[in-house]
Amino acid sequence: MRMYDIIMKKRNGGELTGEEIRFFIEGYTAGKIPDYQVSALMMAIYFQKMTEQETAELTMAMAESGDMLDLSAIAGCKVDKHSTGGVGDKTSLALTPMVAACGIPVAKMSGRGLGHTGGTIDKLESFEGFSTSLSREQFINNVNEIGIAIMGQTADLAPADKKLYALRDVTATVDNMSLIASSIMSKKLAAGADAIVLDVKTGSGAFMKAETDSLALAEEMVKIGKNAGRKTIAVISDMDQPLGRTVGNALEVKEAIETLQGKGPKDFVELCLTLGTQMLLAGGRAKEEAQAREMLEQRIADGSALKKLAQFVEAQGGDAAAVYDTELLPKAAIVESIPALSEGYVQQIACDEIGICSLILGGGRETKESEIDLSVGLVLEKKVGDYVKAGEPLAYIHANDRGKLEAAKARFYEAYTLGAEEPAKRPLIFEILQ
Ligand code: URA
Repeated sequence: MRMYDIIMKKRNGGELTGEEIRFFIEGYTAGKIPDYQVSALMMAIYFQKMTEQETAELTMAMAESGDMLDLSAIAGCKVDKHSTGGVGDKTSLALTPMVAACGIPVAKMSGRGLGHTGGTIDKLESFEGFSTSLSREQFINNVNEIGIAIMGQTADLAPADKKLYALRDVTATVDNMSLIASSIMSKKLAAGADAIVLDVKTGSGAFMKAETDSLALAEEMVKIGKNAGRKTIAVISDMDQPLGRTVGNALEVKEAIETLQGKGPKDFVELCLTLGTQMLLAGGRAKEEAQAREMLEQRIADGSALKKLAQFVEAQGGDAAAVYDTELLPKAAIVESIPALSEGYVQQIACDEIGICSLILGGGRETKESEIDLSVGLVLEKKVGDYVKAGEPLAYIHANDRGKLEAAKARFYEAYTLGAEEPAKRPLIFEILQ
């Protein structure tokens, strides 16, 4: 079998066999197939798409490209959570300590920034010393001892996704349904949880922008999860504007901490409660939605969710003092307001463009080797439906480089649409599938 023939077959619209898919996944993971050939195949898949059968084969080949973690040493129903990616999506940072404080063991594998979206691992590295390179034993011990552990992909678990994820990030091949479904589900299956709650984003900041595409992605992932014997639930949630008020690694960590202190923005709190409710129901910790919500709200009110975050950060080598004093998180040298140029309602925010502003400031990667600046980003003062007077700040920009600040600011203005008419409200939660 030759990689060249596989690329050509897909380029010409053919359906790859399971054998061909395994050949390229195994060869790429082993370093026998170079990045440039896999980039070409990813682009061919992007344009020609994959059938349901190909997507299922790709997912299993990626999940089995390393070890499949056995979590039976952890008592109870292990529930994992994953987002399809969004702007300002710091959900895992607040949600995982909330559910862990309710007694659900959280054993999660997370990723880094992808395309215009941020990643949980990059955000967590805002805590000085924090590491997601855990051995299998440490991972299991941490979940048993404090109820929560988050690891990055290692050479052992879904290594094919680790390589493909980094490659897609810099080759404009992220937003393809089969590539997203296989990337997410291979990690979730390899990481061994009994139940999986998926946060499938829809809108201008999501990879699947149209509601019908997000629904199709959700259905495909739920099917893959169920076929692999895992309880799988998908929540379709809005990503037509950034979630909460912050975009950028350390800024998002600060907002997640404030949320666990009971001071979170309404949309973000609501999403955490919705996903948390599904996790508690799936894990058997609650019988009804109202009971699950109350438990989660209680863990915020009594400070136990915040304490859980501090325990988790400390257990993974991070500076837990920053959980109680956010001044210790990385801070940018320049903070400047972006004033509104006219008066009116914020009618629309091109959400992916706001993610790109954060990348321009240095918050994301240009190439696989790029170092990211954890301190930069944006704090939004006005969101869709808010009224703004000329000169009032739309947002504050946090930067370390004046040139990058100016470039991001120009792009920011393009992303905001102001007008006299108050826009129609979009729901935060579109649908829950299981
Ligand atoms: N999250 C992932 O883990 N992979 C994707 O492809 C998109 C979002």
